Amino acid sequence: MPRARLVTPLVFVLALAGCGTQQNALAPESHPARDIASLWWWMLGAAVLGVGLIAGLLLLAWIRRGRRGIGRDTLGPKPGERASTAVVLGLGVAMPLALIAALFVISDMFVIRTTQAPAATRTTMTVQVIGHQWYWEVRYPGTPAVTADEIHIPVRTPVVLQATTDDVIHSVWVPRLNRKIDTIPGQRNEILLEADAAGDYRGQCAEFCGLQHAHMAMIVVAEPRAAFRRWLAANAKPARTVSTALAHRGEQLFMDGACQSCHTIRGTSATGTAGPDLTHVASRATLAAVTIRNDPRSLAEWIRDPQHVKPGNKMPDLPLTSAQVNALVAYLDALR
Ligand code: CUA
Repeated sequence: MPRARLVTPLVFVLALAGCGTQQNALAPESHPARDIASLWWWMLGAAVLGVGLIAGLLLLAWIRRGRRGIGRDTLGPKPGERASTAVVLGLGVAMPLALIAALFVISDMFVIRTTQAPAATRTTMTVQVIGHQWYWEVRYPGTPAVTADEIHIPVRTPVVLQATTDDVIHSVWVPRLNRKIDTIPGQRNEILLEADAAGDYRGQCAEFCGLQHAHMAMIVVAEPRAAFRRWLAANAKPARTVSTALAHRGEQLFMDGACQSCHTIRGTSATGTAGPDLTHVASRATLAAVTIRNDPRSLAEWIRDPQHVKPGNKMPDLPLTSAQVNALVAYLDALR
């Protein structure tokens, strides 16, 4: 078989399994995610045994076909009938009941519990994640810090993730850290968010929510407590004042044009709420819900033609000249 023909299905299988990405539920990095992964392996093991048993019995029946009255038209109870009843009752009723009951007890009593939001006695830290078409708003109650698509948490600290929505149903899912939690209009759902090791954990909206559902990702950044505290303090501050002439021109364009009607930049006259808070946008690693990297080139491309980067998103195509785009990029890129 040529190598290319072999590689294509392999890549497909690996992509399905989520291998090599940051979104692999079978590479858990927290207590609840580990419980989910082991439950998954046990279920797979039980299913493989079950299929193996059925296949074995089928094979046995095929090998012994035509023997000992099976299939012959005889009067009275057929010799194989008692065995068939045992198979139906034992393997068809008792075994599935026992297996399903065991799975219910294990998942409901143990796994679901470890994934729940921690009790108030275990933590004081809460992060609010609000779903929007199509980005995540992230708030830290008790502080003015607001960000988008990047959830910073201190490592090895149980955090309550409060999930709500501004429009339709979304679902927050960071596979390496915990199960999914839906954001439902008019409801506040909570789950545990905790990471055992520092690092970036990619998450994804797991509920179809419209055209850009597939491009509604997030990054959980778990960092040492001191680094987290520094990040939170910096993000709670209002936007810094910019120094270059180009950035000043960009600021003016932002405040006089359409940008301020949709975006907030704390400490300025921009207080729009339709799009993400941009107070410290330059400190984020990605833009447009992890669709593009946050560098001046991608940012310029995004402002120039947002519908090309993410079709259907709610950012309008603005009639801007190249000079205006450059000025806006200089301003936004200075908002660290
Ligand atoms: Cu938000 Cu799918």
